[in-house]
Amino acid sequence: MAGKDRILVLGPTGAIGRHIVWASVKAGNPTYVLVRDTPPTVNKPRLVTAANPETREELLQNFQNSGVFLIQGDMNDHQSLVSAIKQVDVVICSFGRLLIEDQVKIIAAIKEAGNIKRFFPSEFGLDVDRQDAVEPVREVFEEKAKIRRIIEAEGVPYTYLCCHAFTGYFLRNLAQIDTTVPPRDKIFIQGDGNVKGAYVTEADVGTYTVEAVNDPNTLNKAVHIRLPANYLSLNEIVSLWEKKIGKSIEKIYVPEEKVLKDIQELSFPNNYLLALYHSQQIRGDAVYEIDPTKDVEASQAYPHIKYTTVDEYLNQSIHFHSLLVSAVLRLSWFEHDNQNLHSAAYCMLDLVSGSQKDLERGQSEFIKKHRKDTCDDTTVLREVELCREELRVSAQFCSADLSARLVCLV
Ligand SMILES: NC(=O)c1ccc[n+]([C@@H]2O[C@H](COP(=O)([O-])OP(=O)(O)OC[C@H]3O[C@@H](n4cnc5c(N)ncnc54)[C@H](OP(=O)(O)O)[C@@H]3O)[C@@H](O)[C@H]2O)c1
Repeated sequence: MAGKDRILVLGPTGAIGRHIVWASVKAGNPTYVLVRDTPPTVNKPRLVTAANPETREELLQNFQNSGVFLIQGDMNDHQSLVSAIKQVDVVICSFGRLLIEDQVKIIAAIKEAGNIKRFFPSEFGLDVDRQDAVEPVREVFEEKAKIRRIIEAEGVPYTYLCCHAFTGYFLRNLAQIDTTVPPRDKIFIQGDGNVKGAYVTEADVGTYTVEAVNDPNTLNKAVHIRLPANYLSLNEIVSLWEKKIGKSIEKIYVPEEKVLKDIQELSFPNNYLLALYHSQQIRGDAVYEIDPTKDVEASQAYPHIKYTTVDEYLNQSIHFHSLLVSAVLRLSWFEHDNQNLHSAAYCMLDLVSGSQKDLERGQSEFIKKHRKDTCDDTTVLREVELCREELRVSAQFCSADLSARLVCLV
């Protein structure tokens, strides 16, 4: 651990911030997080809670148990920011899209503290100097580009992390709107489906970010995560998925004109998600040449990192889909006296498309194997615990809606 830069993560409880914290802990960098006093409303599910199953309190407790230094503070409290920043070498900000412009407060605090070797502003998407997105996404990308210009003008040492699409946002349902799992019958594909996009799991974003912290060659450069096995068109991804589920899916190609109209008519978050899909899948915002004078290609710079491929991610979808069905099944069986739990379990099954057959088959197999009246209490309790654990794991791979319902069950 000696000699490694001390990292402060701002926004450590967010969708991506927590993965950066864990990667920092794993890499042996002394890790600090700024935690604000928050109203209880912040525990409401966010846009996507994929890969983020813990409550805020559980997460902070887990951080503390792992040796992370929790610093009380708030972005709006200048002195708390300056004093947190003075304790570290590198600041990584992972504030959400509504707080991008507020990063001027962090830049001011970094200037005042005067000790920071590197600042990673909240980016974690495509390269905002090479984008061609439409509203409502464009505004956020332009704000991120504006923050870049301020950092450069102020002479703050920086690294920009361009990781493109999180699998939890884009591939949990293969870039569909209003569904929670990948489709098995019919899929809407924006454009002709041939434009390449770049995908990465949230955990791998954390790993590459911390690798970039520990690599002096990324100073004042942008790091691009376009992993060879994950730089794929939607047609290629759908074809991988079809092989896994053993059938072909009806494909409905949506022309750009219709996608733009839908973006205008939909409300948040669907308009935002569709505009993100449009930027990557139609405008081709992930397709560009790397400029070695100001860019670092992560897969070339860090070939030792074994990343999760899209293929492996889709396997997880298959695996966790059946895990989810079986856990719900067993929970509803063991706790069938609990009316709330029982009906919640069956509600959730409605959300898991194509599960009815699995349910019936699983139920009869399960009942044959574990009739409740032949189990002693310890076995039942152990099974219930196991189901809860499986639900917790499954919640990582679901949308906010489903995840919230799963978390309610455990
Ligand atoms: N590439 C992709 O597919 C993708 C997907 C999603 C997001 N992103 C990008 O990733 C970045 C992070 O987004 P996110 O969705 O992970 O963010 P998020 O989940 O909204 O997290 C926001 C974080 O900021 C903290 N925070 C809010 N107000 C604060 C304040 N006044 N003082 C201190 N901390 C405060 C929150 O803490 P509390 O717990 O206190 O609320 C939370 O930890 C953004 O740039 C976003 O555009 C990319």
